[in-house]
Amino acid sequence: MIQETIVITQNSSGKAHIAPMGVHVISRDGVYATSQSGTGVAISRDGVYAASQPGADTAPSESQDEFIILPFRPSTTLNNLLESKSAVINYCDDVRVFAGCLAGRRDWPLKSAEKINGQVLDCALAHTEVELTHFEDDETRPKLFCKAVHTVNHSPFRGFNRAQYSVLEAAILISRLDRLPLEKIQAEIDYLRIGLEKTAGNRELEAWSWLMTIIENHTENRQESAAVKTEIRP
Ligand SMILES: Cc1cc2nc3c(=O)[nH]c(=O)nc-3n(C[C@H](O)[C@H](O)[C@H](O)COP(=O)(O)O)c2cc1C
Repeated sequence: MIQETIVITQNSSGKAHIAPMGVHVISRDGVYATSQSGTGVAISRDGVYAASQPGADTAPSESQDEFIILPFRPSTTLNNLLESKSAVINYCDDVRVFAGCLAGRRDWPLKSAEKINGQVLDCALAHTEVELTHFEDDETRPKLFCKAVHTVNHSPFRGFNRAQYSVLEAAILISRLDRLPLEKIQAEIDYLRIGLEKTAGNRELEAWSWLMTIIENHTENRQESAAVKTEIRP
């Protein structure tokens, strides 16, 4: 299973960097799942996240979870993690943070991590503080193997929402604007809009509007550069 999370890292000056990342979680038998999308996975050692009271630490077995973070090069997350050897994985249902990071809105309220030198999203439902254990280099997408050192629940999970799924999927497509055909992205967005329009709240609508602005700007830029190419053709 892949867990879509917000990973927060810090550079050597302590400047926090927020990025949506799919994170792989290694299961108890040491096997980790991979996904078609290749975005990343997180699976707890016993395959289940134990329910605990908000603010309570996780059970000791859970604190042994291992994660793999897979940033595409070039990546600030990659540079920071290699430098500081730690990160915070935030579990968050405010999809504005996912969409906002892609739209240049990275200024989300943060608070200090508890066991590592790091920052936690104020709106996270839960977070896990991790340390880098080892690194598998790759020219496209290195693997950063991390172990959990501390997990905290802040608020209860309130169930699934289709509009949140639509925003997440649209955000992933938009993070690949330069790698996927625009027609494919438009077709998938049209499908995702159905669930969004039926089930969104204000947060989801705001996040969606930021993502649509990115696509509009991208389409306009592409049309402008196509027009310039036509003009200079003899
Ligand atoms: C839900 C979601 C999951 C993502 N997962 C990954 C990932 O696993 N690896 C990655 O490099 N980028 C991923 N991205 C895109 C990055 O968040 C984005 O490109 C970001 O700028 C990463 O680069 P950075 O480390 O320089 O911030 C994801 C985006 C979304 C919306």
